Formats: sequence, C-alpha cells, structure tokens
Amino acid sequence: MIQFKNLSFSYENSEVMTIHNIDLKIDKGEFVGIIGPSGAGKSTLVSLMNGVIPHHRRGDFYGAVLVCGKDTVDSSCGELSHFVGSVFQDPEAQIISTEVEDEIAFGLENLNFPPGEIEKRITESLRMVGIEHLRHRNTSALSGGQKQRVVIAAAIALRPQILVLDEPTSELDPAGSRQIFSTLKHLNEDYGITIIIVEQKVMLLSEFCKRFMVMDQGRIILDGPTGEILKHNDKLMELGINCPRVVSLTRLLIDSGLYQGDYPTDVDTAEKMVRALIKSGGSL
Ligand SMILES: Nc1ncnc2c1ncn2[C@@H]1O[C@H](COP(=O)(O)OP(=O)(O)OP(=O)(O)O)[C@@H](O)[C@H]1O
Ligand SMILES: [Mg+2]
Repeated sequence: MIQFKNLSFSYENSEVMTIHNIDLKIDKGEFVGIIGPSGAGKSTLVSLMNGVIPHHRRGDFYGAVLVCGKDTVDSSCGELSHFVGSVFQDPEAQIISTEVEDEIAFGLENLNFPPGEIEKRITESLRMVGIEHLRHRNTSALSGGQKQRVVIAAAIALRPQILVLDEPTSELDPAGSRQIFSTLKHLNEDYGITIIIVEQKVMLLSEFCKRFMVMDQGRIILDGPTGEILKHNDKLMELGINCPRVVSLTRLLIDSGLYQGDYPTDVDTAEKMVRALIKSGGSL
C-alpha cells in the first residue's frame, strides 16, 4: 500500500539529510503509530507519503515512494489525494473555507460526488468527530481543538484508502483525543482504511495501534508490533519519549522477577495481569 525504497531526503539549503535510507512497507488495513523526539523527521516522513514532498517542498530526493503502486514523483498531490487523506500538524494551515460545512464539502465537490451523498457524508463525518453543532460556524472563530476536528472530519469524509495524520490531537483534551482514536479505529476496522498516525500520546497509541515505528535523527530505529516495541522502554526513555505507566509498572515487575510475559498495551490488560499476579501469590 505504501512502500519506501531506500529513501533519503534533505530540504533545500539544509546541510544534513533529514531522512536517511528508509525502507518500509505498510500494508492495507494496518494501524501504525509513529513516535520520536522533536526534529526526528516524523512530519517529513508523512509529507513523503502524501506527496507534499517532492511536490511542495524542495530538496534532494533519493530512492522512491510508492503509494498504492504509484510513484509519488510521477503523480500529482491531487492524484495522490484519491488514495491518501492527510491531516497536517498545523490545522490552521489546512483550513481554506470560511464555514465548517464548506470545508467538509470542498474535497467531496472536487471529486464530483452527487449533492445527496455530499450532504450525507458531511453529517456523518461531523458526527463521527463530535462537532455537529459547529456545522455553520465560521472556521476562523474556532478553537485549536475544534479546528483539528474540522480537518479530521474533512479528511474522513472522503473515505480515502489511507489516512495519514500528523499529531491530530495535540490541542484536544484526553476525552477528545480518545474520541478521535475511537473514530480512527472504527474507520480502520469497519471500512478497512489504513491509518498512519504521528502522535505524542504513547498510551493512546499503544492501545489503538498494532504497529509502532520509532524515529530518531531521520531513521526508523524500531519498527514492529506495539507490545514488542514497548519492551524497548529504556531506549524510548533515552529518546525522551514518555512511556505509559502500565509499561513502567510491567518493567518494575519484570526487573523484580515477578513477571515474564508480554507488555500489556492498555490499562484493562494491565489490570488483568496484576490481578492474576496477586492471585498467583507472586510470580507469573
Ligand atoms: N520546510 C523545511 N525546510 C528545512 N528544514 C526543515 C523543514 N521542515 C523540517 N525541517 C527540518 O527537518 C528536521 C525534521 O523535521 P520534522 O518536522 O520532520 O520533525 P518532527 O519529528 O516532525 O518534529 P516535531 O515533533 O517537532 O513535529 C528538523 O531538523 C527540521 O528543522
Ligand atoms: Mg512534526
């Protein structure tokens, strides 16, 4: 679905490579979380997935990125947008319409959807991100978190095969963030949409994403099933990535010789693990 072939990239006027020799494959239906310290190259990586690089950012580009079999160098961003929906790190820069409803309708109208379908999808996507009440509001009067929801609604209205989101919940509170993740889960499980999300909230990511990629200095340094990646919590802490408390707790239990199993990826599983441990009177 998405393939990077020995991809390296440096921005124009930059003396260092921002992305170094990345090879990766993301298959249809995956739910992938990308984490890493600031400046690691996460936004650059997602800009390579939706064609923003090389079409809107200049630089030296080596290797190839294929999206649904199309080489991003040979396809315009418009063509790629049929496959990939994007939510950028800065929602401010992405919103172009004055009214919320028009922002959602914009992409659908461009793709010539019939009016009835446009109406249906506007209502549905606003509901999915919990902002039906903002439908006729002026976009410039919205809060940062509301703008993030509008941008997400506009992206999901198109039901792309792949949805790439760059820190989409940075301005949302915990409940709002969870709602967005639940919506993404629904899109992933019920519509088979491939989700790739850059996010700082590792607990939420570990609960929802099946695969983690960890970036540092332009490289993917860890890539694998979420539970496997959480085992490298020392490395994550070293990079300044806050591990969820269930990870620190599991680490303590492992280091004390009380537990040897997998890392739980959510609070419910962690609770079951601790209860089983107490019941067993010591060691699992
Ligand atoms: N348009 C640009 N022109 C030149 N250099 C850039 C540009 N965008 C990013 N960079 C540089 O590329 C490197 C990677 O930046 P990028 O934004 O991809 O990192 P990031 O992991 O998304 O960071 P953050 O967590 O802060 O969003 C940084 O050193 C950054 O300064
Ligand atoms: Mg970024």
